[in-house]
Formats: sequence, structure tokens, C-alpha cells
Amino acid sequence: MILSPSILNCDYSNLTGELQKAYESGAEFIHLDVMDGVFVPSKGLIQEEMVARVNGQFPLVNDVHLMVVHPLKRVKAFAEAGANIITFHVEAYHRPSMIKKTIELIHSCGCRAGISLKPGTRVEALVPYLPLVDLVLVMSVEPGAGGQSFMEEALPRIAFLANRKKEHGYHYLIEVDGGIVYETGKKCAEAGVEVLVSGSYLYHSDDFKGRAEGLIAL
Ligand code: DX5
Ligand code: ZN
Repeated sequence: MILSPSILNCDYSNLTGELQKAYESGAEFIHLDVMDGVFVPSKGLIQEEMVARVNGQFPLVNDVHLMVVHPLKRVKAFAEAGANIITFHVEAYHRPSMIKKTIELIHSCGCRAGISLKPGTRVEALVPYLPLVDLVLVMSVEPGAGGQSFMEEALPRIAFLANRKKEHGYHYLIEVDGGIVYETGKKCAEAGVEVLVSGSYLYHSDDFKGRAEGLIAL
């Protein structure tokens, strides 16, 4: 299992130490949640400058999750800041051509492209983009804040994506985000998830390493 610790609620006064915990616990990705205060109610600390600060401190894959209204406009800046994976929301655009254009731009900037969906969006909305993306991020909470409870509805969605992947030979990674602790992570693993995002369970614990290793072993 690939682990992508979310630094959304970490101690920013000790950013290097917080990243070091992730790296030394065996995480391969670091999850960077970008919130614009429009797509989601709150504006977050993680914008392009923070991605640039994180970049290169440890050999972690910068897994950027854009919760923003017009992702196309920001792709280039995040790529330049060091993003390796750029994931945006299918709800960001009504027009499929805009979604395809965003995926193309992410690729042309040399990054892997991910697409995500909110709990209220039908998983079928992703179908036209599945052959094009490198990652699908299933939200198991309403995007916008850490520390919420896992929504079980994510499980059949993960299973749907895992089946599609197998049937069509697609290459995307399946990632889940929100309310991941050992028990919920285990259910997601059984449903076919390949990357676990986890924030408060790791960063609000005295045993980051033990918990991270537990998730990686799933
Ligand atoms: C929610 C963010 C998540 C969040 C996860 O909008 O996308 O990445 O940080 O935090 P936990 O693991 O605490 O639910
Ligand atoms: Zn996220």
C-alpha cells in the first residue's frame, strides 16, 4: 500500500520535521491539499509557495490535490513549484472539453494527472476520463477539512474503479482521501484501493510511525 500523509493540519512551524516523519515511516507520497476558499469554504495555507517549500526536502512524491474552481489556470504554477501528481475535481468544469484540456495541460507540464470526485457526484461521471488519467482520488469525506468521519459510500465506488481498471487494462492508481484510520483503510484496501491519504490519524498521534506502518502493511 502506498501511503500519502496529508500535511493539512501538521505543525507548520516544524515543516521539515513533519515531512521527515512521513519519509522515515515509509510513506512514498506526501499529500498537499490546496483550498481556494471558493470551491471549498476555507482558504488553506497550502498554495504554490508551500509546495515549493516542501519540494526536494525528502524524496517524496508531491501529491497535489487541487480543491479550486479553475484548476486549468493554476496547473503550470504548481508544476513549476514541484508538483509530481496534480489532481483536480471533475466538478470544477461542466464542459468535458475543459476537463480533457486540464488533463492534457498537466501531462504537458510533465506531471501525472489525477481526477477526483466529491461524495455527492456519481462515479459514472469519471468514466470518459478513466483512459486518460494516472490517478483517481475518491473522496470519502466532503472536501474542505481534515478530521471528518469516513463515509462508507466510498467503498462501492472504489470497487467500481478497481473493476473498470481490470476490465479495460487502465493504468490509474486508485487513491482514497478522508477519515482514513486503520479500520477504514483496511476496508478500502479490500475494495481495491492502492493509495491511502491520511491526515489527522497520523499527525495528531504520538505514534506516527506505528500508525503509518500499519497502513502501509494493509
Ligand atoms: C479534505 C482533504 C484531506 C484531509 C484528510 O478536504 O482533502 O486530504 O487532509 O484528513 P483526514 O485524514 O484527517 O480526514
Ligand atoms: Zn486531499
